[in-house]
Amino acid sequence: MNKKNIRIAGFTGSLRQGSYNKAALRAAGELMPDGSELEIVDLADLPFLNEDVEAAGVPVSVEAFKQKLGGADGVLIATPEYNYSIPPVLKNALDWASRGKEPPLYGKPLAIMSASPGMFGGARAQYHLRQVCVSLNLIPLNKPEVMIARANTKFSAEGVLEDERTRQAIKKLLEALVLSVRKSQEK
Ligand SMILES: Cc1cc2nc3c(=O)[nH]c(=O)nc-3n(C[C@H](O)[C@H](O)[C@H](O)COP(=O)(O)O)c2cc1C
Repeated sequence: MNKKNIRIAGFTGSLRQGSYNKAALRAAGELMPDGSELEIVDLADLPFLNEDVEAAGVPVSVEAFKQKLGGADGVLIATPEYNYSIPPVLKNALDWASRGKEPPLYGKPLAIMSASPGMFGGARAQYHLRQVCVSLNLIPLNKPEVMIARANTKFSAEGVLEDERTRQAIKKLLEALVLSVRKSQEK
């Protein structure tokens, strides 16, 4: 019997063109296990959440974002660390995703990675993200942890992940994510 193709939605809280986290997501796209695919979802068009705007009608860009998440079996987030936490672009996207009758991330498996030029690789942001996940009932994998420290030494100027150990770490994370999705779908 053929196994169902697993769809993962990936996004990052960095809007920067030369973002290490965007580059890490692109690398993840190349490293997806057989029978799975990654769709990278851009957060640039999402307006700041304002409950007045929401009450007047959820913006088209937000609906499109939520639909993409709804169609995914699992989620991959690559987060930058801003002042020991997640950046506002990511929090805003998660806040939009948490709204409505059927929040599209509810109960879905999540893999987290982070990249920073600093020596902790965004670890502190990852733990803040885990706290937010409790509210959304987004289910993060505990292991493996992928924190890409000194990211400026691991990507080429064109944004290609050149560090083999990091590529292997991301590959393991994706394997764990797809396994977790398959297990959750068996129930
Ligand atoms: C407002 C701001 C706060 C930052 N705070 C941290 C921090 O707490 N820890 C850290 O490792 N890097 C921090 N940085 C540096 C980011 O890790 C760095 O800009 C990184 O490249 C951002 O991710 P990106 O390459 O995906 O855009 C901060 C950057 C900004 C703009």
